[in-house]
Amino acid sequence: MSELPQHVAIIMDGNGRWAMERGLARVQGHQSGVESIRSIVRAAGELGIKYLTLYAFSTENWGRPQDEVGFLMNLLSNYLDKELAEITKNNIQFRMIGRLDDLPAEIQSKIRRNLKATEANTGMVLTLALSYSSRIEIVDAVKKIAEKVKSGELAAQDITPDVFSRYLYTAELPDPDLLIRTSGEMRISNFLLWQLSYTEIYVTEKLWPDFRKDDLLKAIQEYQTRERRFGRHPVRSKN
Ligand code: IPE
Ligand code: IPE
Ligand code: MG
Repeated sequence: MSELPQHVAIIMDGNGRWAMERGLARVQGHQSGVESIRSIVRAAGELGIKYLTLYAFSTENWGRPQDEVGFLMNLLSNYLDKELAEITKNNIQFRMIGRLDDLPAEIQSKIRRNLKATEANTGMVLTLALSYSSRIEIVDAVKKIAEKVKSGELAAQDITPDVFSRYLYTAELPDPDLLIRTSGEMRISNFLLWQLSYTEIYVTEKLWPDFRKDDLLKAIQEYQTRERRFGRHPVRSKN
């Protein structure tokens, strides 16, 4: 396969609708969505994707009914327990972006354990966005930079886009090449606003619990037909 995207980011949406279509409770959609995560993590690793970033829970999602939030936290807790062996076996490095402190204490410690256990792994970098908001990420970066300027460690005129990027949660990740959103919604929903500046966007009607390896392949094939110009002329242009 030519020109694999180095970094694929996914807005995993449509769990609720998937369940409604089947006359099930919304949470059943979340439960089934975990199977898609397993399958896509495996497939991305096999394909040789270097970075996979999954939007699992936004700061705005805290505003959902308490039952649903509790269910999602339970699923996350189980996932962090169960998948560690598989992640380790596949040499995957686990990361997270978002407000770790917002999460229940038990989940925070499981995340820390998984980060530590996989930090020396050299395969795919799997990043979960949890209690994530791109606007908060940007504001957090501004606060850190303001402190540095105040203390004299950083001069205001030295703040460039590259410098700024180093203060984001994603400091160690390249920008995504391909963004996939399931369930047909044509929006970003507060995900990686800065980092997606030149990312190719692929939206599929498939709902997240139905998304599997073939769908990932389709998205990648579509990506491979795109011409990325980054504001310049087409590569083939003679002008
Ligand atoms: C995505 O599915 C999962 C999370 C946001 C946690 P949704 O729960 O948003 O499902 P829809 O969009 O309502 O179908
Ligand atoms: C985006 O989906 C967040 C995640 C997939 C975690 P939402 O369902 O929360 O977004 P909106 O409400 O459709 O914008
Ligand atoms: Mg949704």
